[in-house]
Amino acid sequence: MRIDILTLFPEMFAPVLSGSILGRASNAGLVRYHLYNPRDHSTDKHRKVDQAPFGGGPGMVIQCQPIWDAVQHVQTQEPALRPRRLLMSPRGRTLTQPLAEELATSDRLLLIAGHYEGFDQRVIDRLADEGGLEAVSIGDYVLSGGEVAAMVVIDAVVRLIPGVLGDPLSAHHDSFSPGSDRLLDHPHYTRPRTWEGRETPEVLLSGDHAKIQVWRREQSLLATRYHRPDLLPELA
Ligand code: 6GU
Repeated sequence: MRIDILTLFPEMFAPVLSGSILGRASNAGLVRYHLYNPRDHSTDKHRKVDQAPFGGGPGMVIQCQPIWDAVQHVQTQEPALRPRRLLMSPRGRTLTQPLAEELATSDRLLLIAGHYEGFDQRVIDRLADEGGLEAVSIGDYVLSGGEVAAMVVIDAVVRLIPGVLGDPLSAHHDSFSPGSDRLLDHPHYTRPRTWEGRETPEVLLSGDHAKIQVWRREQSLLATRYHRPDLLPELA
């Protein structure tokens, strides 16, 4: 998978994309990250990319030109691979595990991260009209910019690319995932068997895999009913 990121703050991404699972995925050649700064495409002599909003009000609005030209430039890179274009925005479709799974099947993603009060609406409309644009949010709260949200999307997606996680079943059994029936994951235990007087549930030491499976399923249901009853269709 190729992931293009359009951001005024590319330096925010380096430590996240090079660390842990995301870095391993790119070192293994399973994903390629490409960062682009719209400022590099500004035709303004001071490389300015934002202006005060027409109609007044607080903050600054990112202008159409640098965003449009930057997107055109990104798409001259490997033009045979057409990216699914995502605009990070609190008004977008909320990121869920099924959406992450869907994005993980894509060959190429272009994530556009906004900042300040957002983009001039006309560049959003034109990108939507000419090639498509999907707004994605990571939840109902406000971030200072789309960068952190873009990193969240990338993390959720890249770990689902086959080969990225050591054990292909580990993502399958995660919370919200098909192998947990999209419920919360069951609790986990490891050595020592007793820690400060707290015991490991006996069933996990029994070696009876059928019984362990039943217990984990039960624990998953109990955790979901307690923490996230909204995930249980019969209780929602
Ligand atoms: Cl994608 N952007 C911003 N600025 N805030 C958010 C968000 C995105 N998702 C949730 N809050």
